[in-house]
Amino acid sequence: MVSLSHPLLFSLLFCFGELIFAQIKYSTPEEVKVGTIIGNIAKDLGLDVSTLINRRFRIVPGAHVALFEVNPNNGALYVHKTLDREQLCDINGACLMDLKIVAENPLEIHYVTVEIMDTNDHIPSFAEKEKLIEIAETTMPGARFQLPGARDPDVGINSVQRYKLSQNDHFNLEIRDRGEDKIPFLVLQRHLDREQKTNHSLILTALDGGTPSKSANLNLTIKVLDNNDNRPVFSKEVYSVALEENSALGTIVTKLQATDLDEGINGEIEYSFGGDINSKVLQLFSLDKNVGEIRVNGQIDYETADVFKLDIQASDKGQPPMTTDCRVIIKIQDVNDNKPEIEVTSLSSMVPEDSKQGTVISLISVTDMDSGLNGKVICSLTENVPFELKPSFKENMYSLVTTETLDRETVSHYDISITATDCGQPALSTFKTLSVQVSDV
Ligand SMILES: *[C@@H]1O[C@H](CO)[C@@H](O)[C@H](O)[C@H]1NC(C)=O
Ligand SMILES: *[C@@H]1O[C@H](CO)[C@@H](O)[C@H](O)[C@H]1NC(C)=O
Repeated sequence: MVSLSHPLLFSLLFCFGELIFAQIKYSTPEEVKVGTIIGNIAKDLGLDVSTLINRRFRIVPGAHVALFEVNPNNGALYVHKTLDREQLCDINGACLMDLKIVAENPLEIHYVTVEIMDTNDHIPSFAEKEKLIEIAETTMPGARFQLPGARDPDVGINSVQRYKLSQNDHFNLEIRDRGEDKIPFLVLQRHLDREQKTNHSLILTALDGGTPSKSANLNLTIKVLDNNDNRPVFSKEVYSVALEENSALGTIVTKLQATDLDEGINGEIEYSFGGDINSKVLQLFSLDKNVGEIRVNGQIDYETADVFKLDIQASDKGQPPMTTDCRVIIKIQDVNDNKPEIEVTSLSSMVPEDSKQGTVISLISVTDMDSGLNGKVICSLTENVPFELKPSFKENMYSLVTTETLDRETVSHYDISITATDCGQPALSTFKTLSVQVSDV
């Protein structure tokens, strides 16, 4: 068996009458095999090995009696029980075991000190396997967060010597010495953005200085706490919609949609009419502040207004709230809801019978409030009368003229019916009857 003992450090001999004292110091690593020889006391003290049994060479029972034994046949001091340095001694300072060895005839008492040396027999460990750290999104780079340290009962180089942090973009590790302990701190390097990454998973590794070194891991989860740093965003900058006039109350005009990347109330959206919207418009349209639906709330008349421009605001419920705007353009589509109107300006109700062909009897103007084809009007006259409508230079203005010389003795009175029809689908018409007397000449 190979002795692991260190060389004899010193030996002192004192003689007081028959008492002989000596002090020897050995050292041994902890955790060596039971039976390992630490040193040979007899040899180191110069005792005659052959007399040891007769002289009852032994260890005097004491506190650490069970840990070591001497062999009376050769004087060797050997390990009798497993030596666990961390169990026998404090973390700090040397771990020394004092033994008293006696031999009789003559009586000799020897003091032997065994130093138990630390070996890297412990793995560092964290009290927990994972740790959640919550950091506000607004936190400035440079902020420090204390992390749990790892413990390792070994001493000196065999205890925790350093920490490592897994590769990442946002954090560094800083180690601070607090007395005997090294305390790891997480240091923020760059601004956190919850909308980009909510959780950051890191691994903190504690390493001792043994060879080979032993390590332990702690899973760190960094949860980024939301800050109201995002505005709502509308799905469109401008919503353009068409709405028929006369649409029923409650008809959905459009549904706006704004989204906000923030969390909780910071991302909850409320809609409202923005800025200087006039009260007339507010009577015609309603807005659901929660769902963003715009509905018809009054009589929509194309002839009164053919387009509405509403500014709508979306606001989140953060403190302070953040807002955004959009525009809704509602184009009203005409419906053929207006009949043509005929206006007759009679020059005279009496026409002399010798009037020339082409004599103007009346001026007719037709109007239709609708637009496009709905407002385009075509006029016609009763058939088989000696009159016709001649378009004038102005649109929708006609002259009623004679197509031949009239003869009172044949027909003295005409009822002329004028029909004005628009080109809507379905078309709307108006009639007007003119009474013309032919006067005798
Ligand atoms: C972030 O972590 C929390 C708590 O650990 C968990 O509830 C959540 O689902 C995680 N979110 C993401 C996006 O991973
Ligand atoms: C720690 O993280 C590693 C890798 O991300 C994973 O495999 C392991 O399960 C985690 N351990 C615990 C206790 O969450």
